[in-house]
Parts: sequence; structure tokens; C-alpha cells
Amino acid sequence: MAHLAIEGVSKLFGTTFAVRDFALEVGDGELVCLLGPSGSGKSTLLRMIGGFERPSSGTIRIDAKDVTNLPPERRPTGMVFQSHALWTHMDVFNNIAFGLKLRRLPKAEIRERVENALALVGLADYGRRMTTQLSGGQQQRVALARSLVLEPKILLLDEPFASLDQHLRERLREEVRDIQQRLGITTLFVTHGQDEALALADRIVIMRDGCTEQIAPPSTIYRQPQTAFVAGFIGSMNFVESHIRNGVCEYPLFPLTVPVEDGPVTLASRPEALAIRLSDRANAATVHRTVDFGTHKMVDVDLADGTRLKAMVAPDDRIQAGMKVEPSFTSFFAFRDNALVHESMPSKSDAEAGRLLPV
Ligand SMILES: Nc1ncnc2c1ncn2[C@@H]1O[C@H](COP(=O)(O)OP(=O)(O)OP(=O)(O)O)[C@@H](O)[C@H]1O
Ligand SMILES: [Mg+2]
Repeated sequence: MAHLAIEGVSKLFGTTFAVRDFALEVGDGELVCLLGPSGSGKSTLLRMIGGFERPSSGTIRIDAKDVTNLPPERRPTGMVFQSHALWTHMDVFNNIAFGLKLRRLPKAEIRERVENALALVGLADYGRRMTTQLSGGQQQRVALARSLVLEPKILLLDEPFASLDQHLRERLREEVRDIQQRLGITTLFVTHGQDEALALADRIVIMRDGCTEQIAPPSTIYRQPQTAFVAGFIGSMNFVESHIRNGVCEYPLFPLTVPVEDGPVTLASRPEALAIRLSDRANAATVHRTVDFGTHKMVDVDLADGTRLKAMVAPDDRIQAGMKVEPSFTSFFAFRDNALVHESMPSKSDAEAGRLLPV
């Protein structure tokens, strides 16, 4: 267990910031997911925490101790890299034992700890296998065991399951979550997968261009995105470009009250917050397609101006392609220059919800 504090950390490569003025505190035993597009600085941040990269400025503390300039081996961190290179000339046992041998632990203790680590990742009988004789998922577990065996206080995982198929990834991430909780290891987990982040994280950090967009628990990231970027990054989101005049949205289809200054806004609403009902109005929207996911149906709706929206309906809903419908927002967000400027909470009243204008 350890407490991690990152304060004002930046990393410059040449003249470009890979990470810019980053701040985060991770509590004892907490699991934080770093999520963001390719090149947003996730690996660079993790490498700085692990000691493989030196920050251009800022401070990294572990349990109040400044580790900013310490080499990796003098930090209580363990890292599983994005490309988890195992040593192919060693068997599984020796791959995992390597770090312990460097620490000159007694042979018997090394054996015991490696065997415990193998059991922990479900590979108890695999010690004598060469790593080339393992499946991708088994190799990733060995990489994980190799970090865990050193009993790090802080575990840094950089997309450890990226190359695996969906089922294996789901199984392994549940295993990692179990192990992490059982041992109470403070963990930072980089992922591209939003499902992975929602499933694993106590908190999620959304990164973009080296900066933080939002740090919050998964449900908050999903339900209360603070920027348009976050709104579009997690889950499915409908965006409608619009303009506000005198507190009312001028967009021709949604007469919404949006109490913000005049000017352009981006309206955003989840598919589950978009209601549709049949309509014979001239400016009605058209159902383009429906997809049945078993638990729900997703309906693609084309507005008269060509904007496509997604609505979630019950699996037994009889809505079909070609039907004319009237969409309305039961709740929505309004963003301007990426920042949240207004949030409407779910409401059953037509007056408050967006309704198709009569023609
Ligand atoms: N050693 C380096 N020298 C120069 N630029 C680098 C170096 N390492 C990373 N960068 C740059 O820093 C930025 C952040 O890279 P980083 O690897 O941290 O991104 P990432 O979020 O991990 O991306 P991905 O999801 O693709 O792994 C990128 O623009 C990258 O090109
Ligand atoms: Mg990376």
C-alpha cells in the first residue's frame, strides 16, 4: 500500500509537451485508469512514475518521499510495459525470478516467491515452460507475475492486455482487479478501452494532448462530463451543433431553453436520453436503421438536415427503418469551447424536454 502524489509534472521532448502540468493523487490501494487517445501522454506519465523517464519539471512523491530523481530500482514501483517483452532465452520461472536474483535473495525464498506469484496469476505448473511456448494471454500473465513478485507498493500497468481478444481481456482484467484488491496495491492502469476503464477503475483520468480533461469516478465521468471531449470519449453520445439566442436554442428542431449567453453551443445527449415517438410532421426525422442488441435496440435517426442521432429503445419496441419520428432530449449537456456551460437533468415534462417544433 502506498500513496502517490504527482505535482505539476511536465515532460518536454524537444519543444513539444508529452505531459503538461499534470497533477494527481492516488490513495492507498486505489486503482486509477489513465484513458486517452494515442499520443496523449499516458505512457510517458507512467514511465516518469516508474523512473524510466525524468520529468522536465514537477515532483513525484511516494508516501511523502520525493522520488522524482530516483532510478527505477530504488522506487517501490513495478511496471508492466506496453510491449511486455519477456526473455525468450529463459523459462517462465527464471523470467519471474530475475528481479529477485538481482536483489540477491536466498534461493529458497526466490523459489517460494516465484511459485506464489505463478499461483497468483493461475500458472502454477508453467515454471519450466519456455516463454515462446505460451499463448499471448499466458505471456501477459507472466509479465504481470514478474512485476508482482517484487511486491511493489505501486503497480504501473501500461495497456497490459492490448493484444488479447475480448474474452481473455475481460477475464484477465477481473483477475488483476481481484489480485490488486487482495494485495491492496496502489495501481495505475493505462488503457485504450473505455469498457476496461469503467469496469476496473476507482477513478478515471481522461487525458488529451498531455493535459487532464477530467478526473472522477467512472459513473461521474459518464454522467457528468465536464468537457465536450470527455462527453464524446466515453460511451456513445449524440452531438448537435446549435446556436443560442435569448436563452433559447435556435436550432430548428429542438426548441430548448439553454440559459447561457448568446452564441454557438454543442448540445450533447446520450442515446438513452433521446426519446423518439412516431410523427407525421413535415420536418419529422427518419429512422435509418435499427440494431437489436438483445438487451436493447439502438435506433439511428436522421434529422431533416442530415444530422444522425442514436436512440436506445426497449428490445420489443416495434420501431423500424423508414418510419417518421419525433426525437426529444430527456436530458442534455451544452458545451461551448469544450467547457460545460449548461446541464439539463432528466425531466418528464414536455416543456422542459426538447420537442420537435411544429411546422
Ligand atoms: N522518447 C521520445 N522522444 C520524443 N517524443 C516522444 C518520446 N516518447 C513519447 N514521445 C511523444 O510524446 C507524446 C506522448 O507519447 P506517449 O507514448 O506518452 O502517448 P500514449 O498516450 O501512451 O499513446 P499510445 O496510446 O499510443 O500508447 C507523443 O506525441 C509521442 O510522440
Ligand atoms: Mg502508450
